[in-house]
Amino acid sequence: MSERAPLSREIALAAAAIASLRAGRALPVALDAAIASAAARGGRLPDASRAAVRDMAHEAARRLGLVEALAAALNRKPPAPPLAALQCVALSQLIEPLRAEAVIVDQAVAAARAEPDTAPAAGFLNATLRRFLRERGHLLAAARADPVARWNHPAWWIDVLRSEQPLHWQQILEVANSPPPMTLRVNIRRCGVDEYLGRLSQAGIAARRVGEQAIVLERPMAVDALPGWRDGEVSVQDAGAQLAAPLLGARDGERVLDACAAPGGKTTHLLELADCRLTALDVGEPRLAPIRENLERLGLRARVVAGDARRPEGWWDGEPYDRILVDAPCTASGIVRRHPDIRWLRRRSDIATLSARQSEILAALWPLLGAGGKLLYATCSVFGGENEAVVSRFIASHPDAVRCHLSARVGDADEPIAQLLPCATPLREHDGFFYALLEKRP
Ligand SMILES: C[S@@+](CC[C@H](N)C(=O)[O-])C[C@H]1O[C@@H](n2cnc3c(N)ncnc32)[C@H](O)[C@@H]1O
Repeated sequence: MSERAPLSREIALAAAAIASLRAGRALPVALDAAIASAAARGGRLPDASRAAVRDMAHEAARRLGLVEALAAALNRKPPAPPLAALQCVALSQLIEPLRAEAVIVDQAVAAARAEPDTAPAAGFLNATLRRFLRERGHLLAAARADPVARWNHPAWWIDVLRSEQPLHWQQILEVANSPPPMTLRVNIRRCGVDEYLGRLSQAGIAARRVGEQAIVLERPMAVDALPGWRDGEVSVQDAGAQLAAPLLGARDGERVLDACAAPGGKTTHLLELADCRLTALDVGEPRLAPIRENLERLGLRARVVAGDARRPEGWWDGEPYDRILVDAPCTASGIVRRHPDIRWLRRRSDIATLSARQSEILAALWPLLGAGGKLLYATCSVFGGENEAVVSRFIASHPDAVRCHLSARVGDADEPIAQLLPCATPLREHDGFFYALLEKRP
């Protein structure tokens, strides 16, 4: 039997992470801090409980718009942040409960009683949660009249998508609110895709193919329990992200720059596909460690360099590159199902700020590309301001840049590639990405 902390402790930790998120902290950082402080106070949290805390916090982040609207209807005045966060986590667990509702309520109330700053409001929490259970249908219907609660995204985000993607904005938001699948990339240097599917099946792990090298697992699992993980037979990477390396099309012997490389998902894919001479660049030493770990596990080699892509004079050796991948820093609005906190942390003004930084990176790296060379501009964003707008601006100011036609197999069809919208159907299963390939006129 796996060891587990009491549910009340798990709820309290998930709530601490949600309170931190609401104060502007990224959820992974908030979760690490909550779990570390719990360990310091009451001993190490069992692995199963760490996973449960993470799942609960993710669920609450994914439903934050709805649960905050419910809370506003249930509370006469807003409670202090620690109690508000406990209420949010409890309500998010009660919307589609995976265990008895009474247990969720009792344990959330026990979590409130256990801390001096929430204990005085434990009775109030109990009353609001029980009222939610009594009036659930009416409260949910009333809350969902507000788009923020209906779609669990900030109003500005919904507005941008609605105006830029009038036919697809609902699909994008639906996918963003669904639990993310675990997608693998088979290292074809070590193993065939069908062969690996066979090994998964032998191990009793249900999976299906969704791309050239992409396999989706029916249920996520710990990576080190995957067949061949330690030997570098597979990596974890979304099927949409797996399009980057083949679209850049680097060949054996070419000099390649991966300009925004950490944690190295696309670096390692490029090297699995070709024996190229690759430089992996990212902003600082701490960002480079995961690139090195991934290279080592997969048995691949690259020059790994700390530097700012906007300042090549600090790290470039002066020899032109044949191919450059710019997987630019962006809002990450295409991968929100994997990072449910992003939507609550971003501001509308981030689009313009990032768009300017993306243009700066492109302009700084273009001179490093040799004549006839190709640069792939990529983001994991669905906002036009970071995608088509950046590429159009760049082409308008660089007469030696030509945009190439791009196509790839996505799901069961070959299709043109530019803005890839997030999709979660049996045949197409990927996050949202943007790709544009630019060739330098000789
Ligand atoms: C979308 S992530 C890259 C993901 C990576 N290509 C992969 O597939 O694993 C963007 C990366 O750009 C890096 N970055 C941001 N600004 C940068 C700059 N000025 N120069 C170089 N890298 C930068 C960030 O540290 C981050 O690791």
